[in-house]
Amino acid sequence: MSEPLLRGLARMRSHLLDPDTLVRAVASGRQKGGAPQWRRVELRYVDLKAGRHLQVTSYDEQQAHTANHAVGEPRQPSPARDAVDALLDEPFGNWHVETTTQSHQLRVTKKGEALVHTSDRKEAVEASRGHDRGKERLLPEDDPLFRELGLTDAQGRLKPSRQAKYRQVEEFLRLLDTTVVEAVEKGHLRRPTEAEPLRVVDLGCGNAYLTFAAHRYLSHVRSLPVAVTGVDVKEQSREHNSAVAGRLGADASFVVGTIADAEVDPAPEVVLALHACDTATDEALARAVAWGAPVVLAAPCCHHDVAAQLRRAPTPSPYAALTRHGILRERFADTLTDALRASLMRLAGYKVDVVQFVESQHTPRNTLLRATRTGSPVRGGTLRTEYDELVATWGLTPRLAVLLEQQDAGA
Ligand SMILES: C[S@@+](CC[C@H](N)C(=O)[O-])C[C@H]1O[C@@H](n2cnc3c(N)ncnc32)[C@H](O)[C@@H]1O
Repeated sequence: MSEPLLRGLARMRSHLLDPDTLVRAVASGRQKGGAPQWRRVELRYVDLKAGRHLQVTSYDEQQAHTANHAVGEPRQPSPARDAVDALLDEPFGNWHVETTTQSHQLRVTKKGEALVHTSDRKEAVEASRGHDRGKERLLPEDDPLFRELGLTDAQGRLKPSRQAKYRQVEEFLRLLDTTVVEAVEKGHLRRPTEAEPLRVVDLGCGNAYLTFAAHRYLSHVRSLPVAVTGVDVKEQSREHNSAVAGRLGADASFVVGTIADAEVDPAPEVVLALHACDTATDEALARAVAWGAPVVLAAPCCHHDVAAQLRRAPTPSPYAALTRHGILRERFADTLTDALRASLMRLAGYKVDVVQFVESQHTPRNTLLRATRTGSPVRGGTLRTEYDELVATWGLTPRLAVLLEQQDAGA
């Protein structure tokens, strides 16, 4: 039920101004006809030497700008109150406000009213007030989940050999979080309910670090009802992961099968793939298209298919310098592979970004394709011409193109 905007914002304001219970808040999107100064703003309280401050991180198209505002006495004018009031005056379309016990989502309707959805957390959380100049952890290292998964020891300390995997999962989650929230806000993904949780699949899940972390974060931190499924060809992976799910009491199921054929019913809405080997990433993208999945996040692993095709085919003029040296040819093949994947996903009706999801010291395989389904497949036009010319020039047949054609023919 909608309510007057000012009343809805006043409720958010009281949560934003409570330095004891606010965990984090995010303002994003725009009201009809409005243009906020920032693309997105994040708020949290941090403890500095000079006392508790409201930390506001504002994002424009290029970068983040961080400012700390002193909190002051309750109900007295203070820089933090001024900062909150200035932000509430901006025509943001959405406010997501997390407190230690609840999660509030305020959306401004086309009529300029507030639609507020409030959910109770399954268990109260503590707000982290550390002024960590690095990014705040979405799931802290001492979360019991990581001990169960063998990434941390009995004291909740990361095992040195598992640091890289933890960081990959953490940074993947960060993108999953913003992508899901934005897709829900923009109406590309339905808002999940307890009766119909969000259906997430992790293709090539291996030991299911990402699968369980996605479940934990979305359900416990975001308060989104979620059911996850992991798919892997290895039976041993299913046995191990099902036992972990039982111990964690997580709504997670595991299927043995190939990404191309494994039975996942009903079709998932969010498709994840972290380092599915070589063309298994193409299988994951093709499967996501076949399911009509609204959100797809895939971080590819090794790229052998296009590299092998480049080795076999004569290099078109004047590009011989790009493929003469093995290392450059391999890197070029990586770039070409992911560029073609992004083009094919665009042609399949998705809005696609290709981003670096984690620093290279945590894995050299740190590219991620983020796709949100926004329209119907594109049949012609400049996008198609650009793709056709690129593959014709290099004499390539990308595996994803073959899979999508097979799906089209079978449809
Ligand atoms: C490099 S591991 C990554 C595992 C996990 N996603 C992670 O990041 O920890 C790749 C996993 O994909 C699985 N896999 C590879 N090709 C597959 C396919 N075509 N179908 C299903 N699973 C596949 C492998 O068995 C392996 O567990």
